[in-house]
Amino acid sequence: MDLKRFEGLRDKLRKDPVFFAEAVLGFHPFPYQAKLLRCNSKRVVACWARQTGKTTAIAVKVIHFAFTNANKTTLIVSRGLRQSMIMFNIIERFILTHPFLARSVLKSTRTMIELKNGSKIIALPCGPDGATLRGYTADLVVMDEAAFMPEDVIASVIFPMLATTNGTAIMLSTPWGRNHIFYRSFKNPDYWSQHVRAEDCPLISKEFLEEQRRTIGDLRFKMEYEAEFVEEENSFFSQDLIRECVEDYDLINESQLWVEGKIAGDYYLGADFGKKVDYSVIALLKREEEGKLRLVFLKQFALGTPYSEVIAYIKRLDEKFDILKGFVDQSAIGESLVEEIKEFAPQIDGLTFTARVKQDLMVLLHARMEQKRLILPMERSLLTQINEQQYRFGRAKPTEIAEEKGYMTFYHPPGSHDDQLWALA
Ligand SMILES: Nc1ncnc2c1ncn2[C@@H]1O[C@H](COP(=O)(O)OP(=O)(O)OP(=O)(O)O)[C@@H](O)[C@H]1O
Ligand SMILES: [Mg+2]
Repeated sequence: MDLKRFEGLRDKLRKDPVFFAEAVLGFHPFPYQAKLLRCNSKRVVACWARQTGKTTAIAVKVIHFAFTNANKTTLIVSRGLRQSMIMFNIIERFILTHPFLARSVLKSTRTMIELKNGSKIIALPCGPDGATLRGYTADLVVMDEAAFMPEDVIASVIFPMLATTNGTAIMLSTPWGRNHIFYRSFKNPDYWSQHVRAEDCPLISKEFLEEQRRTIGDLRFKMEYEAEFVEEENSFFSQDLIRECVEDYDLINESQLWVEGKIAGDYYLGADFGKKVDYSVIALLKREEEGKLRLVFLKQFALGTPYSEVIAYIKRLDEKFDILKGFVDQSAIGESLVEEIKEFAPQIDGLTFTARVKQDLMVLLHARMEQKRLILPMERSLLTQINEQQYRFGRAKPTEIAEEKGYMTFYHPPGSHDDQLWALA
């Protein structure tokens, strides 16, 4: 190859991230990903539907930036390290398995890659207050699932990190709540904004989307697959309220229940028994400092699971966890089954879920969330259910709706714990 052609090639690789992606990484971006890769704006918002390739596209952009610019720092930030690591691991895989790129790595740790050209890629959590981020200066900051990051941290910690470098900020997310910097930036004409729907993604079939629309309903479909900032006006637990309670952590995996030994901590249990058309659900909340409760475990049983099986499961949980107190929905199973539970776990009581009791529980849960004393995992399916079922409830006739919609059941368990704690307090 003559030198001139090689120089031309280098120049093209530097200038065109899409060419770089295809020629070097063997990654073939979809048209909307190509657009984002080529965007040069210093303020970028990608509001894309679920599973349309946000994280992967930006991972590629970060690799291109680090390899074609010397001495630049890229930070990958999300609500928690778990989410940041998803993108970081994609980046790591592209680089470390690559015959040439891997040779340019000077140092690599679990959360950092440093290249021989002096550029670094670092994955970080932002946490509730951004304390983990203080002290960094960055040339590029990528915020994955930005709609779940605390606005204060984005505005007062992340943007100042870019001040002296005239750096670039990229926020990507599926929508969540309008009262947030992600939404305002998306609407801000000073930002380069991009909206992508699931139907634009060649990997997602029409059939899948039709099926999803039927299962999750129009409103949620609009948010998840059309990337619209929608929310029912009467929503009892607003998306903005829910965001305040979200942290990025894993729920306890069911397989851990069958391992020897207890899981440490103090817990509260709530169980809702499904009747004919709704699911039985068990939830566990862990007591943390300052009276906070963290949802750590959630089990939804298949429709038609016999009550005896659900009760056996509660027994297992009682052996595995120190359950301080628990409530089960007595209206479904009746007093005698509650007595059966009390034989092995006397601290668990039956509670009759009348409309009135449900409403009280909801109000308490709301207060608890406003005080940030409930912590929920960053799981969109769970959070959208909480957001959605509440507005349905908010419209009144709770019991009828609970029976109509299986997902309504998700609401009860945290509610019952909450009531318990309130009663204790
Ligand atoms: N251009 C592409 N060609 C082939 N596969 C792709 C492409 N872009 C993304 N994918 C694949 O699509 C899937 C979803 O990608 P990714 O996780 O980046 O999407 P996302 O929008 O971040 O999803 P989520 O909403 O779950 O965070 C992954 O399996 C990824 O490897
Ligand atoms: Mg993603």
